Amino acid sequence: MNILVTGGAGYIGSNTCVALLEAGHTVIVADNLCNSKNDAIEKIMQITNKEVIFYQIDVNDVVAVDTIFSNHEIGGVIHFAGLKAVGESVEKPLEYYYNNILSTMVLTKTCQKYGVNRFVFSSSATVYGDNKVPFVETMDLLPSTNPYGETKAISERILTDIAKANPAFSVSILRYFNPIGAHESGLIGEASNGIPNNLMPYVTQVAKGIREKLRVFGNDYPTIDGTGVRDYIHVLDLAEGHVAALDNLTEGAHIYNLGTGQGTSVLELVKAFEEANGIEVPYEIVDRRPGDIASCYADASKAKQELGWTAKRNIISMCRDAWRFEKNFKE
Ligand code: NAD
Ligand code: UFG
Repeated sequence: MNILVTGGAGYIGSNTCVALLEAGHTVIVADNLCNSKNDAIEKIMQITNKEVIFYQIDVNDVVAVDTIFSNHEIGGVIHFAGLKAVGESVEKPLEYYYNNILSTMVLTKTCQKYGVNRFVFSSSATVYGDNKVPFVETMDLLPSTNPYGETKAISERILTDIAKANPAFSVSILRYFNPIGAHESGLIGEASNGIPNNLMPYVTQVAKGIREKLRVFGNDYPTIDGTGVRDYIHVLDLAEGHVAALDNLTEGAHIYNLGTGQGTSVLELVKAFEEANGIEVPYEIVDRRPGDIASCYADASKAKQELGWTAKRNIISMCRDAWRFEKNFKE
């Protein structure tokens, strides 16, 4: 099937393109490269030895998106394209609302025009806010403390309403937990330009000597060792989750957590990284980061039951693969 992958040059998108090509799909990427580089496309082709059709376009551009649908018989859309930095979304709310919500509307409207009824959407565990863990798909969403989270909740709502109005529309809304790791080739992963916000890219930069030490944001949370607990998931497991979602699309809107169901604290992750790679990661405990919650992990049973998908890779392989990519990575 011809799959349009928006944001396919990005971190999760590029790994998913590999999984899609390996599953026998044809991949058409639409990406404006605002947070990625052209060479991701070449690396996808290098890993799979298959062609990728690439359009460097903004997915908010109605005419450009229409051109793709008229040039190719699109069988389904996986919509990754979006801005994702929580802190930046507080400073630039309009850019986030405009980019992340308009893109969902442009794509679904074009899908309607061309009769494309298969859609997979990148949502985030951030929509659960400070609910009680483990997070289950049926929970009420809590208002987000940042515009980024709101863009995900609003896009979910738009897609759900479209599915209600059009019984032929099949949409899988995937709520990712914390993706880390990289393709095992070391070729595609999360490019860590500048000072990383997220834990794993920061850890790998400390390991590489780019930064002196990790700052652990708080050790007084009600968790196993006082540091924040998250459900880290290998990006390749996440990628496979998208193939499973696409293969199992049924009419209506269906929401799935993509996580491992296991929580890992910051200090446990540091220890796993040191064990996996034999490198020490110096750290210091500093104040809590505003807006952080104590614990976030999934109840991952729905995806297992309905998609036949579970995360297979453990925290050690996530740490090993993240480090392999960082070692190879050059700005
Ligand atoms: P990424 O920034 O690496 O990839 C996003 C891609 O979308 C980039 O290649 C960027 O150039 C492209 N893009 C952005 N706006 C665009 C536009 N208007 N038109 C065309 N291309 C555009 O991010 P990622 O980590 O791969 O995340 C992919 C999706 O998953 C995003 O929607 C993100 O919000 C969501 N998500 C990510 C995480 C995470 O921790 N990485 C967690 C939950 C959800
Ligand atoms: N942390 C540190 N030091 C750092 C960075 C992070 O101690 O330098 C801690 C945080 O306090 C938190 C944990 O590591 O306890 C994970 O933090 P991340 O920034 O890696 O991830 P978050 O859980 O805060 O957020 C991420 C994405 C969001 C997404 C969310 C979904 O950044 O976009 O996961 O669960 F919504």
